[in-house]
Amino acid sequence: MAEILMSIEHIYKTFSVKQGAFQKLSFHAVNDVSLHITQGKVYGLVGESGCGKSTLASTILQLTQPTSGRILYRGMEVDAHTPAAMKAMRKDLQLIFQDPFASIDPKMKIRDVVMEPMRTHKIYKTRQECYQRACELMEICGMSAADLERYPHEFSGGQRQRISIARVLGMDPKLIIADESTAALDVSVQAQILNLFKQLQKDFDLTMIFISHDLNVIKHISDRIIVMYMGSVIELADKEYAYHEPKHPYTQALISAVPNPDPFQEKKRIILSGELPRFSNLPTGCPFHPRCPQCMDICRREKPALRNLRKGQKVACHLYDGHTY
Ligand SMILES: Nc1ncnc2c1ncn2[C@@H]1O[C@H](COP(=O)(O)OP(=O)(O)OP(=O)(O)O)[C@@H](O)[C@H]1O
Ligand SMILES: [Mg+2]
Repeated sequence: MAEILMSIEHIYKTFSVKQGAFQKLSFHAVNDVSLHITQGKVYGLVGESGCGKSTLASTILQLTQPTSGRILYRGMEVDAHTPAAMKAMRKDLQLIFQDPFASIDPKMKIRDVVMEPMRTHKIYKTRQECYQRACELMEICGMSAADLERYPHEFSGGQRQRISIARVLGMDPKLIIADESTAALDVSVQAQILNLFKQLQKDFDLTMIFISHDLNVIKHISDRIIVMYMGSVIELADKEYAYHEPKHPYTQALISAVPNPDPFQEKKRIILSGELPRFSNLPTGCPFHPRCPQCMDICRREKPALRNLRKGQKVACHLYDGHTY
């Protein structure tokens, strides 16, 4: 059986924000999320802007502490790790975001950009070995060793993304989360970067989570799709089920918006009415019910739990109460 790399159990992340001069609003940006991340699988995490994708990613990567809940890495509770184990785990879990160069000193040579994390984590004994690996990684990522002597401003968005992937691979990560990492690139460059990720995933047996608000982007690369809505996971399904037999009305609406390459198979687009609710006035019951074309009475009262519908598909929706496949 495939190894479970990470288990996330009942994770909440609560934020408090000021509302006016005296009032504070608390809300769960991540609301009781439980997931198993299996070694070697690629996950696509989708949902509208502000639904909590990046916040969930930060808690998975331990960049921010969850307000409550447990995270297990290779079966060990993360809190129980010693500082050394925590450091090793941080090396194993890496994030690539949209503009990874935004936080990098523009005067740094690419060789330092790529070698810096390998040095910090003391992955190689000598500078020469470290440099050698940087050359290899640049080539693996479709760049050249000579590019190591150049500066960030000399590269395009797609090339910078390749360099940032080389930088992350230097740490020999086990899990990579790519947060909207191709959103700023034009479509053809986006496809090239996704192909590179696909190749690396195979070659390095990586586990990956791709975050996107666009189901089209993650279609080809993902094995499993996680759909979030207002802090909750509302559907979790193998790719085939998610794209061909989505069960949650929200997933159905998202899928109906994915363009179909076959014009004879054109499907009807489901247009959701109503605005995306705000955390400041989250409805009772199912968070999706005000926009749901199939809303029932119970949906206004009770929040549905994420339950197994069949092997490979879970859904949080009262339409399937008592349903078995
Ligand atoms: N540090 C913070 N303090 C207060 N609120 C926050 C903080 N970080 C995120 N939020 C809020 O939590 C919610 C979820 O934000 P998050 O960035 O996780 O969404 P997202 O799904 O990644 O959105 P996008 O697709 O736009 O990147 C939003 O309402 C956001 O305003
Ligand atoms: Mg985000």
